[in-house]
Amino acid sequence: MTNIDRSASDSVQHRMQALVRQLNQHNRAYYIEDRPLISDQEFDDLLRELEELETRYPEWAQPDSPTQRVGGGILEGFVQRKHRRPMLSLGNTYNESEILAFHERCIKGLGLEPLYAVELKIDGVALSLHYQDRVLQYAVTRGDGVQGDDVTANVRTIEALPLRLGPDAPTDALEIRGEVYLPRNYLTRINLERVQNGEEPYANPRNLASGTLKLLDSSVVRHRRLSAWCYQLDGEGPLLERTQNHHQRMALLEAWGFPVCEHRAGPLPFEGVLDFVNQWQSKRQELPFDIDGVVIKVDGFGQRDELGYTAKSPRWAIAYKYPAQSVRTRLLDVIYQVGRTGAVTPVACLEPVEVAGTVVKRASLYNEAEIRRLDLHLGDTVSLEKGGDIIPKITKVHPEERSADCIPVRFPDYCPDCQSRLDCVEALHYCPNHRFCPPQVLGRLEHFVSRKAMNLEHFGTETLLQLLEHKIVSDPADLYELDAGRLASLDRTGDKSIQRLLEAVQASKAVPFERVLFALGLRGIGEVASKTLARHFGSIEKLSMANKEALLAVHEIGEKSADQILAWFSDPLNQRLWQRLQALGLAMSIPQTHAASSDTHVTEPRPLTGCTLVVSGKFAHVEREALKTLIEEAGGTVLSSVGPRLTYLVTGSDAGPAKLEKAHKLGIAVVDEAFILELLGKSPLPL
Ligand code: IVH
Repeated sequence: MTNIDRSASDSVQHRMQALVRQLNQHNRAYYIEDRPLISDQEFDDLLRELEELETRYPEWAQPDSPTQRVGGGILEGFVQRKHRRPMLSLGNTYNESEILAFHERCIKGLGLEPLYAVELKIDGVALSLHYQDRVLQYAVTRGDGVQGDDVTANVRTIEALPLRLGPDAPTDALEIRGEVYLPRNYLTRINLERVQNGEEPYANPRNLASGTLKLLDSSVVRHRRLSAWCYQLDGEGPLLERTQNHHQRMALLEAWGFPVCEHRAGPLPFEGVLDFVNQWQSKRQELPFDIDGVVIKVDGFGQRDELGYTAKSPRWAIAYKYPAQSVRTRLLDVIYQVGRTGAVTPVACLEPVEVAGTVVKRASLYNEAEIRRLDLHLGDTVSLEKGGDIIPKITKVHPEERSADCIPVRFPDYCPDCQSRLDCVEALHYCPNHRFCPPQVLGRLEHFVSRKAMNLEHFGTETLLQLLEHKIVSDPADLYELDAGRLASLDRTGDKSIQRLLEAVQASKAVPFERVLFALGLRGIGEVASKTLARHFGSIEKLSMANKEALLAVHEIGEKSADQILAWFSDPLNQRLWQRLQALGLAMSIPQTHAASSDTHVTEPRPLTGCTLVVSGKFAHVEREALKTLIEEAGGTVLSSVGPRLTYLVTGSDAGPAKLEKAHKLGIAVVDEAFILELLGKSPLPL
């Protein structure tokens, strides 16, 4: 190896190490600290660069590389795996006397009072994890209890679960069972997005967690914040033989780095069990995830063996289910909200009432069928429940309390915003005036600029409303024709904010096709379907020409979605919109290298691809403007102000103190000229 070769390979290795460090830091910020530092797209770009380097130089791939968490490609379907021992369910109890009856059955079976372990019953999806030689081998869902789906690729993306155990863990075969869940606020966020996209909301966190685990594309799963709590450890080896009760096994799981819920108790006598149950009945709303009760388990394994099993469940454990929290209030009014797809959703306005720790004033009524089912009248007394989802739901109406002058709620025939006559499709009402109905126009723009779509920072609702009012913008393509002159006519827009808006528009041109497709907001086509369609057809042109048969051939695209896609493309205004956006420089196809993953040609990765940088101060070796050009040539984007998504603040002498302070506050890496020059100059990446 010549000196030049050696220094080139050193810099590739250096870059690979830096990428691993950087990506792991972003993963931690995203999953554990809940404060993402860069956009999803920037993360994906960095990850892709690392993947490409690891493909070329597998000998330098690092064991803690985040690529180990991202499954390879999209699966055709899941392989079925048989469980070593069936995954059973639990018997349920709903009141104290049923818990007491369980305790008495245990005493009868054992001839003595056992000690118990008590835990929260997480409302998620049961999972079985298998480790050998301290490495995760595979993960299986409960399925029918006898066999389940092998969801290893998706489970690998769950940050909370270790892929490799530390040296304290044995090398023997281990099986860990636990519950995969999604934090409660995440469900609310996803449901709001789904309703806006014209998709059905998930009924509870369990359905969303289960739907997510069954996605065939693990790179999508990675972006959902699945987490897990483990509650059972089985396996071979002397260490496990020495621990013959539940609380000791839980301590082992914790010591080996598995996520174990801290809110547990035991071993304790029956009275302690009841205390735990009562304590969590009122405190459960404080948890960031949903529980649907408490699990009570006999602690000793010898006693468990004595008690045995019924066909479906163990006799040594029981679930106690908390009742859904329900309160009564009065229906004051029903208003009708028009979404960006034109869907009209009835919303109940209620006399404010506290349910499960929050004051509720509104509840979604979903559609006309729901109003009919409840036989809702204005002024009715209604029962409100907060179940798994924190969006409250009217579960019951009390007609016995209705006064004679109450009038029935009637769905309007005309749009409340533009007075167009509503269309009714399968019990859902739509305003057909897509072009001019104000909430639809605004909703489409809000969706287009949103983080998961084009991520046009600084375009908040206020700004969009002003742009609409001043007739500067009427559809998404107009955003790309904005200039400083037109923006200056808005209220409260100084030079700085104009510059920020224009920069955001420019930066969004790098958004990949799948997200542009999502941003276009086809009814019923969410993030996942957009990605699937983008990968399947490769370009919007091909998608626009697909007939129903071709659309139905796409995995995950059903009859309804296919019809929505055809309807969208049959509208000449929509055709004009995507063609204009394409002409304005937005990605309307997948780049060749990504479309053909088997292609052996790898594009030359640039050292700052996906990075955003702010340059401040004077520099010793290079003029500031020249440094900016160098950065841009290396794939980086130079911004003018420090924000939470910035990769580096590059400082010279006399760097702006406000910028430095903000960077420190946001935890942004502050680097000097030498660092950047080394990245650029010493990392020529001769690929
Ligand atoms: S122990 C024989 N512990 O509840 C099953 N289960 O309704 C022993 N669950 O399938 C399970 N939290 O998916 C256990 N702390 C916990 C749990 C828990 C949630 C789920 C689990 C099980 C279901 C039974």
